[in-house]
Amino acid sequence: MKRGISLLLCLVMFALAGCGTAASSDEPELNSTQNETQTAQSKSEDTADSKPEEAGTASSGQEPEKEPGMENKTLVVYFSATGTTETLAEYAAEILNADLYEIVPEEPYTEADLAYYTDGRADQEQNDPSARPAISGSVDNMQEYERVVIGYPIWHGQAPRIISTFLESYDFSGKTILPFCTSHSSGIGSSAENLHGLCSEQTNWTEGRRFEAGTSLETVREWLEIVQ
Ligand SMILES: Cc1cc2nc3c(=O)[nH]c(=O)nc-3n(C[C@H](O)[C@H](O)[C@H](O)COP(=O)(O)O)c2cc1C
Repeated sequence: MKRGISLLLCLVMFALAGCGTAASSDEPELNSTQNETQTAQSKSEDTADSKPEEAGTASSGQEPEKEPGMENKTLVVYFSATGTTETLAEYAAEILNADLYEIVPEEPYTEADLAYYTDGRADQEQNDPSARPAISGSVDNMQEYERVVIGYPIWHGQAPRIISTFLESYDFSGKTILPFCTSHSSGIGSSAENLHGLCSEQTNWTEGRRFEAGTSLETVREWLEIVQ
């Protein structure tokens, strides 16, 4: 009888010991699975934390769609009646290693045309939103450019109408336009935003920037580093 009870106790203890072993061998497996899950989560959190812009671009699809034939090239375009904007456009082209294109009016502006508040030619054009002064020449390979920097002087708070002529002459879909202006004292105001409607909705515009006469190459470089 005693031997029977001892045998039974042995069996019970053996069975309990077996369960204990099974439980302790499951635990690390469970923990390692949890660890892996946590590691994967923290990795993805790390990725999201360290490269938010990449995650945003991938999910939001805000990257402009490149048009076929478009290369990673920049064109600096400018109109300048008295040379101020021209100097800064040259700086921008040098900094970006970009091509440079001057918007040349078919009918050059004389000093009298430019005298403001005289109801001269420039005043009249600025007073007429539909004025489109003709441009001499054109950009043959516009499709190759991914970015277009465009510079103009402020004329009565706005871009000269010849800038409208230029923007309406090409398809800027998928391109990024970086506008800047020079002026005597006015800010860029709404002058750049008022140009958006002249291009397709697929055109990407950066915020415009106004520079004063005599702005240095370094200041233009700082702007381009921020904006591009
Ligand atoms: C017709 C005309 C209108 C102008 N209107 C303004 C103006 O509203 N505000 C301002 O600060 N400067 C005005 N200016 C001055 C020019 O914006 C400034 O001198 C500019 O830097 C000239 O650039 P450019 O040498 O490249 O032509 C005007 C100049 C002209 C000829």
